[in-house]
This record gives sequence, C-alpha cells and structure tokens, in this order.
Amino acid sequence: MATIWKNINDVKPGEVLADDVFDGVSFTLIARKGDTLTEDTINLLKKRNVKRVPIYKEGPEEEEVISREKTIVKKEDFALPSAPPTISERLYNESIETMTEVVSKLFETDTLDKDKVRNVANKVVAEVFAKQRNVLNLIRKHAQGFLYKHLINTGIIAGMIAVEMGMPIHEATRITEAGMLHDIGLALINANVKSDIEKLDSEIANHPAVGAKYLRDSGMPIEVTDAVLFHHERWDGKGFPMGLKGKRIPAIARIIAIADAYDTLTSEDLDNHMPPYYAMRWIVSNSKRYFDPDIVSTFVGMVGIYPTGTKVQLSDGRVGIVVGRSEKLLKPIIDIDGKVVDLSKEEGVWILKVL
Ligand SMILES: [Fe+2]
Repeated sequence: MATIWKNINDVKPGEVLADDVFDGVSFTLIARKGDTLTEDTINLLKKRNVKRVPIYKEGPEEEEVISREKTIVKKEDFALPSAPPTISERLYNESIETMTEVVSKLFETDTLDKDKVRNVANKVVAEVFAKQRNVLNLIRKHAQGFLYKHLINTGIIAGMIAVEMGMPIHEATRITEAGMLHDIGLALINANVKSDIEKLDSEIANHPAVGAKYLRDSGMPIEVTDAVLFHHERWDGKGFPMGLKGKRIPAIARIIAIADAYDTLTSEDLDNHMPPYYAMRWIVSNSKRYFDPDIVSTFVGMVGIYPTGTKVQLSDGRVGIVVGRSEKLLKPIIDIDGKVVDLSKEEGVWILKVL
C-alpha cells in the first residue's frame, strides 16, 4: 500500500495513518501508525499544530510516495548546498534510520538497542573529529517525525561542542550518545499514557527521570543517565527535575542543554522556530540564566555570531547566505548568488544587517 502526505485540513475520518505522528512542540507521540482517524483525532492533531500526516492510500506506489525503504532524506533536503555538511548525507541517513529503528524496537520489545546507538555515535564523532574545522550545517527538512531528527541533531551538536572543548574522542562519543537519547523519556511516556492525552501534558515534565531510569535499567553508564536526567536543569537553578545550579549540573548535561535548545529553536518542524542568527542571540542572551556561559562561549566560537544559513545584507548592498565561519567571528564566509566570498578577506565590507 502506498503512503501519501496530506495536509491536515484535507484529511477525512476513516483514513488510516501510515506512520506515527508526533506533537511538533513537546515531541510527544499523538497517534500511532495504523490508527484509523476520527473527527476527534483530527481535531487533536490540529490543536497540536500538526500540519501534514502520512496516510495509507490504495494503489501502486507513486512519485511522491515516502516509505521507510526509500531514502528518508532527499538530496534537496540536505542543508545548504554550498556549505560543507557537518556529517555526510549517507551517515545522516543512517543515523536517522537507526534512531527510528531503536525507538520502534523500544515500543515493540521494551528493549534498548544500545549497540546500535553507540555504533552511530562512534561514526558521527569520527567524522566530526576528522575535520579541521566543523561547520554546523544539518539537515533541516525531513519527512518523518521531529523526534528522531531532533535526537540525532542534538547528538551531533553536543558531540561537536565536546570536540571543540578539546575532549578526547571517547568522551565526545559518550556525549553524542547521550544527546541521541536525551528525550527518549518522551517516547516512553507516550507508551505508558498514550490513551490519556490530557494526562500526557502533565507527564511531560517527568521525561528526564523516566528516560534516565529506563537507560539505567538498560545498563547505560552513569554519565549518560545523568545527562538525560539533568538536561532540563538551568544554570540559575530554576530548571527541573532537581533544580541543580551551575557546576552542580553535570557538564555533559550542560552541553546537551545548549545543543537541545539550538536544534529546537531552529527546527523548521516547529511553528515558532527562528532563523539560526536569532537562535544564537537567544542562547547568548540566556547565558548564565539557562546555560553555562563558558560552554556558550565555546558554542559561539564554533558556530560564529552569524550561523550557517543566516541571510545577511552587506554594507555594499549585496545579499548572501552564511555558509561557514572564517577566522573573524563578524566576517563569515558567504554565498552570494552561488559565489562563495570570504568576508574576512574583503576590506571595508561588513555585515549591515540580518534579513
Ligand atoms: Fe527534553
């Protein structure tokens, strides 16, 4: 049977979901693959800001069909064409597929495939480690649910920060692994209270504890379980679940908090997402409140004031998109109509404004 993606306003009661559907804000599962849609479910999906859903359709596979067997991420979805991707498209695809499988297996057999997560984290960090300089340029569009992509992106960004901080490869791998599992509690909460959507909202605050407990029971090391447990703590002590303050929060959780925030703020899956520059500004302005200021500084040094993907106007009137960081934070490398320009090498030209 084929799958088509339908606008939520065109979906009719009686149609069957071809894949799990997640809430785009809290990353929680709202409806499962195989569910027959009712008027109530459709209204709930609308209320949760879901815009498109995968629906089973009778008949042969068509051009626009998306299935798990096909490439999940299409070539044109791959980040900015003129910026080098943080990790290769092949590995990104493999990572998404792995996380999809890991979460599905969690639902089906209640077991965590630790080796699979570790294996992907190893490969990601190996690619990040091998580069002289990393550019934060991840895939922004994706046909499948937000959660898998968010887990992978958070893992990659956290691993990049760890490498930038000079951590050894095995520590960076642990951090990547923890990033890839940080919201696993959301999937578990869904499995437990799926039938009670109202209850779900009040349960969301428990996802760090639920995730950490599950990972501990699965034999994950304490660095990973602590990272998951404390990823919503805040530098000023006003986070949850424990209200830990400053350096009492494990460093790995402080790194993941920044990676999590950056990916969530810039994710085009979410209605209130913002361009990378504004996400960066938000993170910098919440340094010391939400985030460890030293790690924020490392992150800014790594990504630049103008992150990849930022559209800018130059002082000479030209307009371009940032595709990488140069030696100078305020003068990144820019793509202007397909031509790559290193602003740090251009005298008397600067960024006038962000568009
Ligand atoms: Fe979370």
